[in-house]
Amino acid sequence: MSKYKVSGGKKLSGSIEIGGAKNAALPIIIATLLARGISIIHNCPYLEDVNILIEILKEIGCKIKYENHTLVIDTSDVYSTDLSFGLCEKIRPSILLIGALIANYGIVNITYPGGCEIGPRPIDLHLKGLRALNINIKELHGIINATSSKLNGNEILLDYPSVGATENIMLAACLAEGDTIIRNAAKEPEVIDLQNFLNLMGANISGAGTNYIYIRGTDKLNPAEYSIIPDRVAAGTYMIAAAITGGEIELKNVISEHLQPIIAKLKECGCMITSNGNLFLRAPAKVKALDIIRTLPYPGFPTDLQAPIMALMSIAKGTTIITETVFENRFNHVEELKKMGADIRVDGRIAVVKGVESLCGSNVTAKDLRGGAALVLAGLAAYGETIVDKSEHIDRGYECFDDILRDLGAEIYKI
Ligand code: EPZ
Repeated sequence: MSKYKVSGGKKLSGSIEIGGAKNAALPIIIATLLARGISIIHNCPYLEDVNILIEILKEIGCKIKYENHTLVIDTSDVYSTDLSFGLCEKIRPSILLIGALIANYGIVNITYPGGCEIGPRPIDLHLKGLRALNINIKELHGIINATSSKLNGNEILLDYPSVGATENIMLAACLAEGDTIIRNAAKEPEVIDLQNFLNLMGANISGAGTNYIYIRGTDKLNPAEYSIIPDRVAAGTYMIAAAITGGEIELKNVISEHLQPIIAKLKECGCMITSNGNLFLRAPAKVKALDIIRTLPYPGFPTDLQAPIMALMSIAKGTTIITETVFENRFNHVEELKKMGADIRVDGRIAVVKGVESLCGSNVTAKDLRGGAALVLAGLAAYGETIVDKSEHIDRGYECFDDILRDLGAEIYKI
């Protein structure tokens, strides 16, 4: 177990390069299993969740090299689709292994997926979509058993635009016989990245980025070489880090379009943001409260930035009402922010954040990835020293978090 020690009060300033997106990399790494041979994935972040996925793939016979953010995955000798060992319980996207393996291997046994504790995180939409493609799924003693002799395309209406369920159906449907249509699909940029990779492998998918995805099934896919999109959540977190310290930041290697929901909110609270390919943010000494923030599926305000923006609003001028509509229990950071002097009241999915003059350093605990990052940001703005315990949660999603913040002038160390 590790901790971050943050001494607050330093204005951040400088230029950083944003790495590959965790939530795009994980499904794309899994998609390499749809073909036999060597796929090469560039701009792949060094993160604990990626390492766990690599271990899972090695367990079933993949040979993997991971150097300089490039992952070389040889799937030629995959010999097992029994994934009922413990590792799959550690990450949420392991459930996508069903979609990637079922067409070629006919059977997959897998434990329930894990991931951050931010609500019940059911998998009913995944299973409903996969069943619609003629996959027989049984759930027994904590193991999901999926079998299919032939996948058939189908029309699927998702009851909610789940990112994972959309990706799982895309993976399975590209080797199904016939056409598949996903209605009310997730529109996140990571879904588009998966479509682009699958099409490079020889799939025939269109519509990702809209709520209607069309997949024409094909017999066989080939390995491919691809580069992962920049991480919009990491980029948003560093913008908020600069804003919370009244600082300024340049972000290189970003796709501004993906950042529009957070750019709009940061401008609204008083930051100046410009773009010429790179993004520049200059924050006022103290930001204004935002009135209302409501997390929504893309292109709404991302749930993954709800905790970081709450840290910022906790020292804004005025009161902000934050509604978390995506996950049921994503306010784990509130009690910890309150220990630092934040004035926050929660009623169900609504948090009322009254901006205080300043936060004070304190001993707090990261309960999940983004909530943990939010506590570090609060620590950057607080008077005195903040210790953020269980910082391993943060390392699951931010590569070299402390190094990057130190490069920007923060005083932060891992202990
Ligand atoms: C992805 O999770 C991301 N994870 C999450 O990132 C992100 O918060 C989330 O999308 C929303 O943007 C990865 O891409 C690896 P969902 P996912 O299925 O796919 C409900 C981070 O910090 N639902 O879109 O698991 C679900 O409970 C994280 O990096 C069902 O009810 O999200 C939630 O309320 C954590 N049944 C909502 O849908 C299902 O079968 C959205 O979940 C599936 C989901």
